[in-house]
Amino acid sequence: MTELKPARILAIETSCDETACAILENGRALLSSVVASQMEIHARYGGVFPEVASRQHVLSIMPVVQQALAQAHLTLNDIDAIAVTQGPGLAGSLIVGVNMAKGMALALDKPLVGVNHLEGHIYSSWVYEAGDKVPPEPQFPLMALLVSGGHTELNLMTDHLSYQRLGSTLDDAAGEAFDKVARLLELPYPGGPSIQQEAEEGNPERFNFPRAWLDGTWNFSFSGVKTSVLYEVNDLKKRSSNIPVQDLAASFQKAVVDVLFKKTMNAAREFGAKEILVAGGVSANRALRKAFKAQTEFPVHIPPLSLCTDNAAMIGAAGYFRYALGYVSEMDLDVLPAWPLS
Ligand code: KG4
Ligand code: ZN
Repeated sequence: MTELKPARILAIETSCDETACAILENGRALLSSVVASQMEIHARYGGVFPEVASRQHVLSIMPVVQQALAQAHLTLNDIDAIAVTQGPGLAGSLIVGVNMAKGMALALDKPLVGVNHLEGHIYSSWVYEAGDKVPPEPQFPLMALLVSGGHTELNLMTDHLSYQRLGSTLDDAAGEAFDKVARLLELPYPGGPSIQQEAEEGNPERFNFPRAWLDGTWNFSFSGVKTSVLYEVNDLKKRSSNIPVQDLAASFQKAVVDVLFKKTMNAAREFGAKEILVAGGVSANRALRKAFKAQTEFPVHIPPLSLCTDNAAMIGAAGYFRYALGYVSEMDLDVLPAWPLS
């Protein structure tokens, strides 16, 4: 590939309930990353309350940007371009970040780069802490499994910014299934980490929950396994008030991880991928990470835990490649609450 022009990107992410800003050099070296989480506020409601989320972004955005600059020991004059999450996400939340980014780009007379949040998740594997040993860069063709709260997709990447969506979920996203099953097991929000914690003490073989293989397609479905857990819980409740939450969590987690892992491996083989990449909030799941790291057939890229859930470093990485490859946005950039990657 031809050498890309060097650039320092300031990136903003406000698609859901995290207000985040990061500064990156050349799409990979992370100079600073600040994430103000609203998790505790939304935990009271058992999920993200959109209007509360937007108002928290308004309160946090300025201090978060200032902190990111201070941590990197930089001023706005040192920034070459502003990247921002354009969608998918909550419209009222996205607007706060997009307007901040537009204001900064206008005041500094610097380019503005709109980034797809899902593309950001994928690019989190390009990021490393400035000063650390440089990790290997993902190589194309790359099989990318994207597993977040709102999306579950398999994408074949043959080059930068090029995605062939092979399949996606027909109903719930993997993270959504974790969140819903956590709720029915009366575990705290957010559901993914709660299920993981319980699962680690449980027996994954106790309940044989269904796996939707959807043979002949690269699609996923997680509503069946969720409903099976519900039926099992209702059944167990009829017999005892003592619900085996840990075994239920472990068996559910295993059913989801089995499908995600095996379908990704099969897709990588079928499409001749050189490497595998796993991204999105569910890539923080220890059982899923373990499954991918245990196989030796493909080099696998999974971001460090701090970059699995929403952050701005990943938006800066994707934003850099967009900027360097000439995809700069217009100043009338709109928010796109539902915006497929491919
Ligand atoms: O990528 P993300 O932070 O936000 C979206 O773009 O949706 O993903 C959030 C999702 C939630 O559904 C959350 O429960 C799930 O990621 N998650 C996990 C874990 N950590 C977060 N799921 C399973 N195991 C985890 N450790
Ligand atoms: Zn996300």
